[in-house]
Amino acid sequence: MAQILDGKAHADRMLAEVKTAVDARVAAGKRAPCLAVVLVGDDPASHVYVRGKVKACLETGVRSLEHRLPANSTQAQVDALIDQLNEDAGVDGILVQLPLPKGLDSKQALHRIAPAKDVDGFHPMNQGLLLEGLPGLRPCTPSAVMNMLKAYGFEMKGKRAVVLGRSEIVGKPMALMLLEEHATVTIAHSRTVDLPSVCREADLLVAAVGRPGMVEGSWIKPGAVVVDVGINRVEDLNLGTQIFAKEPKKLETLKTKGGVLCGDVRFGEAMEVAGAVTPVPGGVGPLTIAGLMMNTLQACEARS
Ligand code: GUN
Repeated sequence: MAQILDGKAHADRMLAEVKTAVDARVAAGKRAPCLAVVLVGDDPASHVYVRGKVKACLETGVRSLEHRLPANSTQAQVDALIDQLNEDAGVDGILVQLPLPKGLDSKQALHRIAPAKDVDGFHPMNQGLLLEGLPGLRPCTPSAVMNMLKAYGFEMKGKRAVVLGRSEIVGKPMALMLLEEHATVTIAHSRTVDLPSVCREADLLVAAVGRPGMVEGSWIKPGAVVVDVGINRVEDLNLGTQIFAKEPKKLETLKTKGGVLCGDVRFGEAMEVAGAVTPVPGGVGPLTIAGLMMNTLQACEARS
């Protein structure tokens, strides 16, 4: 049986670390860090994520400001709000929740955020610093995953790492961070020929594709560390019956509740082969928010 990598517990430790640093700032007469979250429209999943971020701010002593704009906002209105937050000396971090409603250009919005306040680490300046291996604000999910892997004592030097997925938010920055730790890194994706064989080479497999249960037990090298970044909701009973063959409780929840959360990896199958696995929920999700709080503190300390 694989070890379960408790992302929630590690995220709580990261949040406690942020709280200690925030308390120390305030005790020294400095201001608490301040995160501004911009939410455009009414995507239900985005509202859930933003609530989680605001809760983490409350827990760590970070001030949070929520700016809501209607779904029919123009690009000029979004840009104007970002400009205003860029200029506000009391704001350390700006997060524009994605996806933006149809018709709005998220790249344009993200590029407008001042790099020093870009707590998502999505601005080309911060992405460039990461590419060069220099300090900067780095994307929250991969940096928090690296933080956890190091805390668990996983040596990455010389290991084969496969990152499944090539997004700017997770796949590409994750690959760069693993490379920085001297892993031999492959980025695999939907066009990769014989994906199962490529994944089977991995000592460390990071799945970030957003396809429920895509990674089967047979894709995993015995003893590998598996990090599941996917957060998917499955409602289809046929699919659920396939991917939850080794997770009767999930299948039961799907049948009784009409839907269930799962990752990109078939957790029950992975538990029989891997050395360690992150669960969904309770794995990478909480780590991302903890990474955001770390970045907000970092942005604040760099500014004052
Ligand atoms: N939507 C889904 N994930 C993210 C993220 O990491 N940052 C932002 N801003 N929006 C998201």
